[in-house]
Amino acid sequence: MDTSFENSEEKFRSLADTMPAALFVHRGEKFIYVNAAAERMIGVTREELLEIGFWEIVRPANQELWRNRGRARLAGNVEPRIYEYLLVGRNGTEHWCECHAARIDYDGAPAVLLTATDITDRKQAQEELRQAHEQLEIRVNERTAELGQAQAQLLQSEKLASIGQLAAGVAHEINNPIGYVQSNLATLGRYVEDIFSAFAAYAEIEKRCASQPELARELQRVRADADIEFLLEDIPQLMKESAEGITRVRQIVADLKDFSRADAAQEWEWADLHSCLDSTLNIAHNEIKYCAEVKREYGKLPPVRCLPSQLNQVFLNLLVNAGHAIEKPPGIITVSTGCSGDEAWVEIRDTGKGMSAEVQARIFEPFFTTKAVGKGTGLGLSLAYGVIERHQGRIEVESTLGVGTLFRVVIPVEQHDDSDTSDTPATGAATRLQEMTA
Ligand SMILES: Nc1ncnc2c1ncn2[C@@H]1O[C@H](COP(=O)(O)OP(=O)(O)OP(=O)(O)O)[C@@H](O)[C@H]1O
Ligand SMILES: [Mg+2]
Repeated sequence: MDTSFENSEEKFRSLADTMPAALFVHRGEKFIYVNAAAERMIGVTREELLEIGFWEIVRPANQELWRNRGRARLAGNVEPRIYEYLLVGRNGTEHWCECHAARIDYDGAPAVLLTATDITDRKQAQEELRQAHEQLEIRVNERTAELGQAQAQLLQSEKLASIGQLAAGVAHEINNPIGYVQSNLATLGRYVEDIFSAFAAYAEIEKRCASQPELARELQRVRADADIEFLLEDIPQLMKESAEGITRVRQIVADLKDFSRADAAQEWEWADLHSCLDSTLNIAHNEIKYCAEVKREYGKLPPVRCLPSQLNQVFLNLLVNAGHAIEKPPGIITVSTGCSGDEAWVEIRDTGKGMSAEVQARIFEPFFTTKAVGKGTGLGLSLAYGVIERHQGRIEVESTLGVGTLFRVVIPVEQHDDSDTSDTPATGAATRLQEMTA
């Protein structure tokens, strides 16, 4: 017996068994040697491994690839030297391995030595890292979009607030001149009355001048030149129209101030929702007068604790939306109010085109609009949602295509002061957005 051979084989085996990598020596499809690490990886004994065929430890989907690479290796092409493969153990366990194959001489005949280092843990960690990275990217994109929308809402509400302040400032400035024009008109009215009495006296004198035809003719000529009859008729009319005009300007100015409430911006107060609605209807009048008749069906409402200028913005948007929805004028916009329990409600109903279920599902999304470019930014309802949320209320909608739409705003009569929180309508809407996308 060749003891030196046996000794060297023994040495080789004990060396190979201490290696952490799995070693498989195979000739064709048959294993002729495996080390201890290979036994552990595949989960069978060495004897069993020598029984089963090579392809049993290769994932079926990879077999073609192994064959091609084997052929390439035989043809002398050995790049790259290390491949990553999935090896299959008993019970279907899979191991990601870094594999290296080399042609060797084993027991005097050619064979292939396959070295497989288990990298499953590393692969898993890589995969987890990749997934975490992907998730992070998704979150970053979501957050960026949310921030963009929140910023746009903030800009929009700031824009509205500064328009309100501007309107209130202009209204304040106009108030003074209107005041003296109105008071001058009243004085002018009294003067005109005096002049009229003087003219009446002149007419009397004219009658008495019959004995002096020259003087009478002169008086007639002066009267005809000045068209006194017409003036006497027209002046009271002009005075009346001017007084009405000034009263209307006064009302518009009062509505503007009432609407913007810049003097009491962002203040919680007890407000009469009917006067809020009236001033908002006056402001919206221009936008809706050509397409709809407005019906007011006001019920009984107690004063409501609210941010009136913000509620006015909500009502304005609902009214303008209702007006825009009426494609075949004349339509009807009905504004109803009422109180049930400790909640006040305002309904704005239109006979417009209505909404499909798909549109309805998206109306509170920032920037969702079905209107033409330049006609709508799609922020009205999302801002309204934020405002009503801030009032701890709700905004409901019912709509039928081709029939019309009803928006119902419900807010508690007694609203607790939230001045201790920094939640603005815009951030409220952003929170909702987060909830929607969570
Ligand atoms: N009364 C309504 N009838 C039919 N559709 C409506 C009505 N109110 C809102 N909508 C639909 O909801 C969409 C979103 O309304 P929202 O007020 O948020 O934005 P917008 O009116 O399009 O633009 P913006 O108010 O910023 O000028 C509208 O584009 C419209 O499609
Ligand atoms: Mg709108």
